[in-house]
Amino acid sequence: MAMLTWTIIGLLALCHSSIAYTKFPPGFTFGVATASHQIEGAWNVNGKSENVWDRLSHTRPEMIADGTNGDIACDSYNRYLEDVEELEYLGVDFYRFSLSWARLLPTGRIDHVNPDGIRYYNDLLDALAEKNIEPLVTLFHWDLPQTLQDLGGWTNPKMIDYFRDYADLCFKEFGTKIKSWITFNEPYEICEDAYGDEKKAPAINSHGVGNYLCSDNLLKAHAESYHLYNETYRPVQNGRIMISINSIWYEPSDPSNAEQVVLAEVANQFKFGWFAHPIFTVEGGYPAVMVENVARQSAAEGLSKPRLEQFDDYWIQRIKGTSDFLGINHYTTWLVTGAGVDPTAKSPSWLKDIGAVATMEVGGDSASEWLRVVPTGFANLLRWCKSSYNDPPIYITENGFSDLGTLLDYDRIKYYNDYLSEILNVIYDDGVNVLGYTAWTLMDNFEWRAGFSERFGFYYVNITDPERPRTKKLSADYYRDLIANRELPQDKRYKISQK
Ligand SMILES: *[C@@H]1O[C@H](CO)[C@@H](O)[C@H](O)[C@H]1NC(C)=O
Ligand SMILES: *[C@@H]1O[C@H](CO)[C@@H](O)[C@H](O)[C@H]1NC(C)=O
Repeated sequence: MAMLTWTIIGLLALCHSSIAYTKFPPGFTFGVATASHQIEGAWNVNGKSENVWDRLSHTRPEMIADGTNGDIACDSYNRYLEDVEELEYLGVDFYRFSLSWARLLPTGRIDHVNPDGIRYYNDLLDALAEKNIEPLVTLFHWDLPQTLQDLGGWTNPKMIDYFRDYADLCFKEFGTKIKSWITFNEPYEICEDAYGDEKKAPAINSHGVGNYLCSDNLLKAHAESYHLYNETYRPVQNGRIMISINSIWYEPSDPSNAEQVVLAEVANQFKFGWFAHPIFTVEGGYPAVMVENVARQSAAEGLSKPRLEQFDDYWIQRIKGTSDFLGINHYTTWLVTGAGVDPTAKSPSWLKDIGAVATMEVGGDSASEWLRVVPTGFANLLRWCKSSYNDPPIYITENGFSDLGTLLDYDRIKYYNDYLSEILNVIYDDGVNVLGYTAWTLMDNFEWRAGFSERFGFYYVNITDPERPRTKKLSADYYRDLIANRELPQDKRYKISQK
């Protein structure tokens, strides 16, 4: 009997392994990501001015979980050649990093270019070119110059010009070396967490108002810099430009519950559709359900004008189609449990405007409260993007897992393995056009309000050592093997049972 049972289990395992995809299609590319404020340090060195994260972590250190800041971070300003060595070890096709606006333009405006900022990024780009690592460069990864925040930051329509001028400088200075650009990293986090809440700097907490002013300006700034690139730089530089949109994917807690199914779709429109719908749909503009819900809530609040309004026709057309690829940052899935107002929702707020309650108690744990391991949610998100946005070419521009910094990081390896396996499933079974994958992140770094308490890196960084030594974790070898063979590694040493 036991024999038979084991034979059946063995056959099932064999059967399963023979249908599980492991090989990536030809041309699929792999990279790893960082962001300027999270790694560079040198916060006030050689002309760099203060950004909103410098300001928050210096003036309200209690807002950072472990009281750390980005003053030195991984010291990549001085140690970027070590970063490049790590990238070379991993064997990545591309390195995604971001430019520090306050390092390049200390006033935030185009009136004074800091030559040291230009030099630093040229040095990094040259070091990457020497190793044949392609740069994928983000213009804005959250570190707004404080000078511009003092003028209202992303709630100020002048930001459309300021961002376009900054983008213009970057295209002009670096465009012969950089062929792949990302305008904004995670607009949801910028607008909702930083202006509609205080989860991110500058922590304005203008809930239900500032967040929507931000999205109006940010989407216009994105579109203007896209058109600038498309018309002026692309003909000579031949690059590509996109936006990276983040998602928590919402699923109905009970898939047979029709109300939950509808509400999960509403939540996805509020989260992902808020920024994707204006750019990636045929009709353009904010999702209709979002405009309707905010109008209804605004009326109920006695307001004579909704807190969010649809773009006019000019801007609908101007924003539509302004991304060569859909960049997706994805980590986790939440469950929608029903209609109502989330108990944590402020009034008014984006969260209250959704009108649904969601919970995150699903999947395995990470070190981040918001991050549960739900690989199948990734597949569902990708299929939804294919059907909602007319089968766009997709780059995964972030995906990763946090722990406390262990070197034998089996949980991280399992996360990557299971999430990448879902990517293979949607590529081969559903024809989702995923072209590349970016792991977050090269090395442990300043994880915003979590400081260094949540670690996502392939390399451990000791932040009590002034040399900021980086130590390879087991996941670095896993990713290296994966990239070398373009196949999910099957080696037993990556399995937790070998511990
Ligand atoms: C980008 O430029 C090309 C060539 O001029 C043009 O055909 C295309 O419509 C432009 N894209 C957008 C979104 O405006
Ligand atoms: C980090 O560096 C400090 C100072 O050099 C050292 O005392 C400590 O043992 C290091 N920690 C780890 C985990 O390597």
